[in-house]
Amino acid sequence: MGKIIAIDGPAGSGKSSTAREVAKRINFVYIDTGAMYRAVTLLTLENNIPIENTEKIIELARKLDIHFEWIDNQHHTFIGSRDITQEIRTREVADLVSPVSVIPEVREHLAALQRRMGEKENIVMEGRDIGTNVFPDADLKFFMVADLRVRAQRRIGDYQKAGQKIDIDEVIKILEKRDKIDSSRAHSPLKKADDAIELDTSHLTFEEQVRKIIEIIQKG
Ligand code: DC
Repeated sequence: MGKIIAIDGPAGSGKSSTAREVAKRINFVYIDTGAMYRAVTLLTLENNIPIENTEKIIELARKLDIHFEWIDNQHHTFIGSRDITQEIRTREVADLVSPVSVIPEVREHLAALQRRMGEKENIVMEGRDIGTNVFPDADLKFFMVADLRVRAQRRIGDYQKAGQKIDIDEVIKILEKRDKIDSSRAHSPLKKADDAIELDTSHLTFEEQVRKIIEIIQKG
């Protein structure tokens, strides 16, 4: 087993970009578990599967052939040979991803995949339940939080990259809804692990967030 750094927190807390940069600087493999839930959601949408049809969604999750690649210094997500980096950041996916990730069998299967990814290498894994469920014995755990408005502001950038226009109040609504579903689901909800280090990033710059985490990793 390699070294495992778990980074959890709500949407827009800055954890994805921070985790990615930390991994790059300390030369660990970066694993974005949200992208895995988003990939299952994208396939659910593309196959016109209604959210009530959990059996079909579980089947999609079990067949999911997902991997990550760095291309020109950008982190890309693939299903098979298809690059889905942009498609998984759309509003339609964001709207449906929480209900999809409530399904216990989807979670169990993706968590098993995630554990396998952590078997050999040193990794920075980022998500909602990494420190609590996927790797409760992680070497270090971080829980990143930020004010809702700050988080919404950060998320707007994601939609813009995916070519979608959206205003801040709408993003706030989407985030609130997702937080509620993510935190209240029965199976591995979004929750700070008792031994996680909480980091409020509302007033930190990106560089400060990255440095703070690396400092703690290097001390440990
Ligand atoms: O981090 P993100 O916004 O890309 O995550 C998308 C959704 O995936 C999030 O709303 C809940 C779900 N998710 C999860 O349930 N467990 C994880 N470990 C990661 C993401």
